[in-house]
Amino acid sequence: MKAKPTVLKLGGSVITDKNKPATANLDAIERLANEIFQANVSPLILVHGGGSFGHPIAKKYNLAEGYEKPAQMFGFSETHRAMTQLNGLVMEALLSHDVTAVVVAPSSCVVTKAGRIQSIELKPIKRMLDMGLVPVLYGDAVLDSQRGFAILSGDQLVSSLAINFGASRIILGGDVDGLFTEDPKSNASAELIRHVSLEELKSEKHKIEGSKATDVTGGMLGKMQELIPALEHDIRTLVVNATKPLRVYKALKREEVIGTIIEKG
Ligand SMILES: Nc1ncnc2c1ncn2[C@@H]1O[C@H](COP(=O)(O)OP(=O)(O)OP(=O)(O)O)[C@@H](O)[C@H]1O
Ligand SMILES: [Mg+2]
Repeated sequence: MKAKPTVLKLGGSVITDKNKPATANLDAIERLANEIFQANVSPLILVHGGGSFGHPIAKKYNLAEGYEKPAQMFGFSETHRAMTQLNGLVMEALLSHDVTAVVVAPSSCVVTKAGRIQSIELKPIKRMLDMGLVPVLYGDAVLDSQRGFAILSGDQLVSSLAINFGASRIILGGDVDGLFTEDPKSNASAELIRHVSLEELKSEKHKIEGSKATDVTGGMLGKMQELIPALEHDIRTLVVNATKPLRVYKALKREEVIGTIIEKG
């Protein structure tokens, strides 16, 4: 690979309406596909979240706890199917904007152990990157060697892929301007933090909360916890509001943008 890849996550909070079951935000998906094409960053790995496609079904069947009863089997199939539907919409937009994107379904290349990635098939992804293709992964229902199955968050994937491929940076696109002193959706006085060190992140974790919407992988708190291993590998992370036009574009182009920079030190 010529250069270190960028790992970009499009939050489920952006590409779907998390308050309405299985409802995609097609305008946002279209706009982001165009921003990704215009920014023309390579190598690039894309990951997207589950939003109102993945989380509600995973919650209904209690999948995050692993296999407990046969009735959950259908939930596993359904969760994965819902994710492929959302992924289909993302892929359609990417291809219509000439992004050479290729799906890599996590349920087919990842096995977790107690919810943590135990093995991940990296060779095809590496070859895609070498070829200039853009691998697209997503939060998914996956097989788990201890619990039968698990919910693998897009956030855990982002961190793992960034470490495995020695990424230069991670960009997390969500529905708020970055990391705030408190959840901005429930506290009007919450302030945007422009820069956070790994030490500060670890010590101030108690102020970061989950999500107002259904999120079986811990909302912002889960996201920050997943990020820690990547930060320890010195991979800089930028959290931006992907619901606002051009924030992701500017982040990809390394231009000045409103958001939160999180780095080792
Ligand atoms: N301190 C904080 N700063 C910023 N956001 C916070 C904070 N605490 C909680 N949040 C909430 O976290 C939410 C983002 O997490 P959420 O998991 O819902 O989004 P996502 O990761 O984009 O979605 P998905 O998991 O479907 O990909 C924000 O909408 C915000 O309300
Ligand atoms: Mg989430």
